[in-house]
Amino acid sequence: MTRGKSLQYTFVGMDKALALHRKIGLKKFPEKVVEIIWTHCKIVADICMVVADKFEANGGKNVDREMLFSGALVHDIGAYKCFDKRFIPKKNYMRHQYEGWKILKNEGWDERIANMALRHTPLLDFQLKNLSMKFKEEEIKPQNLEEEILAYADIFHSKGRPRFNEFEQYVSFLDSIDKRCSEIAREYREKFGEFDTKIWEANYLVWHRDVNKWIDDFKVSREI
Ligand SMILES: [Fe+2]
Repeated sequence: MTRGKSLQYTFVGMDKALALHRKIGLKKFPEKVVEIIWTHCKIVADICMVVADKFEANGGKNVDREMLFSGALVHDIGAYKCFDKRFIPKKNYMRHQYEGWKILKNEGWDERIANMALRHTPLLDFQLKNLSMKFKEEEIKPQNLEEEILAYADIFHSKGRPRFNEFEQYVSFLDSIDKRCSEIAREYREKFGEFDTKIWEANYLVWHRDVNKWIDDFKVSREI
């Protein structure tokens, strides 16, 4: 995996971010769930660095890597509140962005990092209404380069059923929600270029296999 000049920033915020995951996650879930959400966040943070490297190499403006990496490490911190006790996403799962924003603000994290959690997936007005989130879609749409890179990177990995996603496959899922959701994703690809998950899949093959088996067993054990 090429990290290039992002290497110097790799460990900024790691301990603090992991401590926050443990603080919030272990109130409700076993250690393994924290491992799953934390690993997803780390994968997305690493993808962000690769996207940032490529963007700058192609003449794009400088990316604030420290903020991007730290924000990516905690972007799903609100997810613990939006999975049920069997680790199945609740109906209002997408509120996790708002829950994450609240947690980060309460914990005194930089407002820019809290905003990255809030805006890491663009949500449309009808979705915000269904989620009882009192925001307008312009407020939730990523508003700076770092927020856009995070939103783009997050497309390529899922955590509820951990796996890498092909862009087109994910975009058809977005299309089924609303055409504008897939259009935004395509705009990001236009801006940041393609991202190939193949090498990443090889690196996480065993982890994905083991963790998905654990999730299946956990759901069964919690149902009894
Ligand atoms: Fe995510």
